[in-house]
Amino acid sequence: MCYRLIRPLFFQLDSERAHYLALNGLNFLSALRLTRLIPSPPSLPRTVMGLHFPNPIGLAAGFDKNGDYIDALSDLGFGFIEVGTITPKAQEGNPRPRLFRLAPAEAIINRLGFNNKGVDYLVERLRKKHFQGILGVNLGKNRDTPIENAAEDYIHSFRLVAPYASYITINISSPNTPALRNLQHGDLLRDLLRFLKKEQAQFFESSKKYLPLVVKIAPDLTAEELKVIAESLLFEKIDGVIATNTTLSRDDVKDLAEAKEPGGLSGKPLCALSTEVIRKLHQLLQGQIPIIASGGIVSAEAAQEKLRAGASLVQVYSGLIYQGPGWVRQLGLQLKANSVST
Ligand SMILES: Cc1cc2nc3c(=O)[nH]c(=O)nc-3n(C[C@H](O)[C@H](O)[C@H](O)COP(=O)(O)O)c2cc1C
Repeated sequence: MCYRLIRPLFFQLDSERAHYLALNGLNFLSALRLTRLIPSPPSLPRTVMGLHFPNPIGLAAGFDKNGDYIDALSDLGFGFIEVGTITPKAQEGNPRPRLFRLAPAEAIINRLGFNNKGVDYLVERLRKKHFQGILGVNLGKNRDTPIENAAEDYIHSFRLVAPYASYITINISSPNTPALRNLQHGDLLRDLLRFLKKEQAQFFESSKKYLPLVVKIAPDLTAEELKVIAESLLFEKIDGVIATNTTLSRDDVKDLAEAKEPGGLSGKPLCALSTEVIRKLHQLLQGQIPIIASGGIVSAEAAQEKLRAGASLVQVYSGLIYQGPGWVRQLGLQLKANSVST
């Protein structure tokens, strides 16, 4: 209700400025303990990858890249929060402007390019957080790391964040880091997953904590590519898969001026494409690896559709920009009502 009133003001501002203004505002309210007054979503517990989620609605990666807002965001009622993408070294990302709202389509185009403060900074934030819930950490590679050496970047960050994370996401699907998506294919994928499984085993040996490994894939894959990826995930016993990241396609937004901006498209126009990937993956994985849905969840119906297509959990990003902070609880209430009626 309140968000509906202030949204037009935010939407007057440059998208990236508006994002940080809103997050800093939330942090301010959190420091005053006011965000704790936000009512929580209903309980919708589920166990996925051995982790107990209070509800299936998560915050997708990229919203809080550096872990600066974890406690404030947790007060919105998420069942889990994913921070990152983080890279070993801090990097600026692409030149601005690099974030665009396509309001009539409830969509966003971004070409941020993994702007982040680096893994050491994130670790400091993780040390200081109070949030006790499920926290995923999403890892990427630095732009200047050659693709053949990408595994070293993921392993470096894995070792540092492992003690603080509930699960680790291997992001190999951002369209804004040159060649990153090549890691989704062939030997590059197999080798990367094998190295990370070894890290996971070593971490388990030393800590006795089993840290699930999740792979985040693109929606822009052929049926054959998806099949090979699914085989690799099964072969390496990966614990979860996030389907999907943003798309390069502009099919449903061609008429909008911002559609010509390079980058990944998210929000409503991504929904159907992303759900199709979930449906196919669900068949290929035969229920052996849980799927976390991300892509175009801007309504309870969209979330429900993802769960019906085979997802166990959902993550939101663009929907939160368009619907506002109170929407997490609304979504929870609607999912609960539907789960009772079905
Ligand atoms: C501005 C912006 C930044 C993002 N940054 C990341 C990121 O750093 N890492 C990542 O894995 N996904 C990132 N994403 C993708 C989201 O996590 C999500 O997968 C995608 O936006 C689809 O969900 P949505 O349609 O609900 O937005 C970003 C998305 C947006 C809009």
